[in-house]
Amino acid sequence: MNVTTKETVEVSMSNVEEASGIKSAKTQSETAVDGQQDKYFSCRSIHAYYGDSYIVQGVDFDMNEGEILALLGRNGAGKTSTLRTIARMSDPLLRQGEIWMDGNALHTAASFEAARLGVALVPEDRCIIQGLSVEENLKLAQIAKPVGWPLEKIFEHFPRLAERRRQDGITLSGGEQQMLAVARALARDIKLLLLDEPYEGLAPVIVQEIERILVEIKSLGITTIIVEQNAIAALKLADSALILDSGEVVFRGAAQEVLDDENLRHEYLAI
Ligand SMILES: Nc1ncnc2c1ncn2[C@@H]1O[C@H](COP(=O)(O)OP(=O)(O)OP(=O)(O)O)[C@@H](O)[C@H]1O
Ligand SMILES: [Mg+2]
Repeated sequence: MNVTTKETVEVSMSNVEEASGIKSAKTQSETAVDGQQDKYFSCRSIHAYYGDSYIVQGVDFDMNEGEILALLGRNGAGKTSTLRTIARMSDPLLRQGEIWMDGNALHTAASFEAARLGVALVPEDRCIIQGLSVEENLKLAQIAKPVGWPLEKIFEHFPRLAERRRQDGITLSGGEQQMLAVARALARDIKLLLLDEPYEGLAPVIVQEIERILVEIKSLGITTIIVEQNAIAALKLADSALILDSGEVVFRGAAQEVLDDENLRHEYLAI
C-alpha cells in the first residue's frame, strides 16, 4: 500500500496506542467537549488539505448510533472531501481535528484501519471491479476480516443481485451497480456507512428501492452519512442534516428543519 510519511507515523502511533490500550481507555478530556456527552460518532473541528489547498475547514458534528445524516451543499462545497477525510483517505490530508467512532480514534488511523474498525465509503463512481462477477465482487470484499453478511443473506435482501450473481459487475445497470456497491459494504462488518451520491443518475423507481435498503440498514443500527444532490430525497430519509459551504458548516440540525426552511434551502442548496 502506498502510504505517505505522515501516514506511516500515524500508523505506528496507532499501533503504539493499540499495544498500550490507550484507545479503549480514553481520558475525560477526549470523551467530553464543553461538558457534552460523548456521541457514537464525532468529527471535532476537522481541517483537511489537498496539498496546500485548504478544503475541509473546521467541520464539526456528532451523530447517534443508527442515525442517518444528510450531508448537503452546493457543488464544490466539500462533501466528498469530508467523506474521504472520515474514511482516512490520504487525500485530502487531515491536518487538524479529531474523529471518533464508538470510542475509537479514527484521526490517528490509516484508511485500512478505519475500514477494519467498520468505516465503509461507497464512492460516487461505485468502484465495481471489471472482469469480476457480482458474486466475485462480494467475495473479494470478504477476503479480509471482519466479515459482515454472508453471501446468501445479501442475495436474500438484494434479489436483483441474486438474479445476476454470475454476471460481470460492470455490465449491471446504474441502479444495480449502486446496489452492488452497498451490498459490498454490507459484506463487511460495518458500523458507519458513507454514501457519496447514491441516487446519481438513477430512475425514481430505483431510488425508491435503494431508499428501502437504507431504511433496512438503519434498522440494523448502522450509522449512515448520505451525500446527495437530490437533497429532498436525502432529507426525507435522514434524521439530521449538515450543510457545508466552502468547506465550512453553515447549518446543523434536524432534517425536517431544512425541509421546512425555504430560505435556507434556497441560499445553500439552490432548491
Ligand atoms: N484532488 C483534489 N485536489 C485539489 N482540490 C480538490 C481535489 N478534489 C476536490 N478538490 C477541491 O475541493 C473542493 C471541494 O470538492 P468536493 O469534491 O469535496 O466537493 P463536493 O461538495 O463533493 O462537490 P460535488 O457536489 O461537485 O461532488 C472543490 O473546490 C474542489 O475543486
Ligand atoms: Mg462530491
